[in-house]
Amino acid sequence: MNILLTGGAGYIGSHTAIELINSGHSVVVVDNLANSSIESIKRVETITGQSIPFFEIDLRNKLALDEVFKTNQIDAVIHFAGLKAVGESVARPLYYYDNNLTSTLALLEVMADHKVSKLVFSSSATVYGSPEELPLTESSRVGVGITNPYGWTKYMIEQIITDTAQANPDFQATILRYFNPVGAHESGQIGEDPSGIPNNLLPYVAQVAVGKLELVGVFGDDYDTPDGTGVRDYIHVVDLAKGHVAAIENIKAGTSVYNLGTGKGVSVLELISAFSKAAGKDIPYEIKPRRAGDIASCYADPAKAEAELGWKAEYSIERACEDSWRWQSQNPNGYAN
Ligand code: NAD
Ligand code: WQD
Repeated sequence: MNILLTGGAGYIGSHTAIELINSGHSVVVVDNLANSSIESIKRVETITGQSIPFFEIDLRNKLALDEVFKTNQIDAVIHFAGLKAVGESVARPLYYYDNNLTSTLALLEVMADHKVSKLVFSSSATVYGSPEELPLTESSRVGVGITNPYGWTKYMIEQIITDTAQANPDFQATILRYFNPVGAHESGQIGEDPSGIPNNLLPYVAQVAVGKLELVGVFGDDYDTPDGTGVRDYIHVVDLAKGHVAAIENIKAGTSVYNLGTGKGVSVLELISAFSKAAGKDIPYEIKPRRAGDIASCYADPAKAEAELGWKAEYSIERACEDSWRWQSQNPNGYAN
């Protein structure tokens, strides 16, 4: 298939481009580079030996997007594009609602105009809000306890996609709810490149390890978890990328939802310890107050993806830390080297 990757210059999109190409597909990338660098695409081209058509456009620009569909044969779309910083979404809600929702509406309209009916969407475990039960299955309750506009955009886009598929019997949609993506490509050439101070745990730990930040603040050690720190389901980004290949190759009519996680919970202290081992150095940390909006534990039941897509996560947290350290130590300033 020739697959359009919106947001394909970003962290998950760039890793997915590699796995799609490795599986015999070709990709076209649209990205406004709001949170990424063209360098990631260049490196994907080097790693795969394939050239990738790239269009620097904002997805909300329907005319420009229409032109991409006119000039390229698009068989399917994987929609990664979106803003994702939870704290920023609380401070700038309209910016988040406009960017994430308007771009999705524009994409769906242009897809309809060009009779492209296969869509995979990057959703998030954040739609489960505060979990009623663990592990989370795809039929666990959603929408209760979502604490930020970013999370609401994912919830709303899931609904928009579901309604679109309901109205169009030919439409084939797969919603992927990612848990916590971590790690990097084994080449050390591409990885997560957050702008400014990282919001997420693993890139923060990586920047402490490389000496860019002083110490990791551990947000709370009094949760109801084995060591008192928050527990999450960290999934290697290459596993996640392979999940997209499986999703697009098994897409079917209507809307299907899959958790992409490992099924295993890892605490903040366990993650710091695994990274410390991978980097071969101590990582200083300090216990801080809880972060507003955080939950104690969140991990997936990934059985549905295995049963229906034939996909399951293979890499360990240790491997994710090793790959992440390779990327971080070889590219201390990310793509800006
Ligand atoms: P990322 O920021 O690295 O990639 C997103 C890309 O979308 C960026 O390259 C950005 O420039 C682009 N983009 C944003 N708005 C755009 C617009 N209006 N037009 C064109 N391009 C635009 O993030 P990522 O970690 O690769 O995440 C990819 C998707 O997965 C996002 O939708 C994110 O919300 C979702 N997701 C990420 C995580 C995570 O922890 N990384 C977890 C769950 C879900
Ligand atoms: C993980 C754990 C923190 C930073 C967020 C979004 C979610 C999805 C993934 C997507 C928690 C603790 C963190 C730090 C810490 N995003 N922590 N010190 O909050 O599970 O999920 O990213 O696009 O929607 O909400 O991930 O990496 O921020 O936190 O102690 O400096 O690490 O309290 O327990 P989270 P995270």
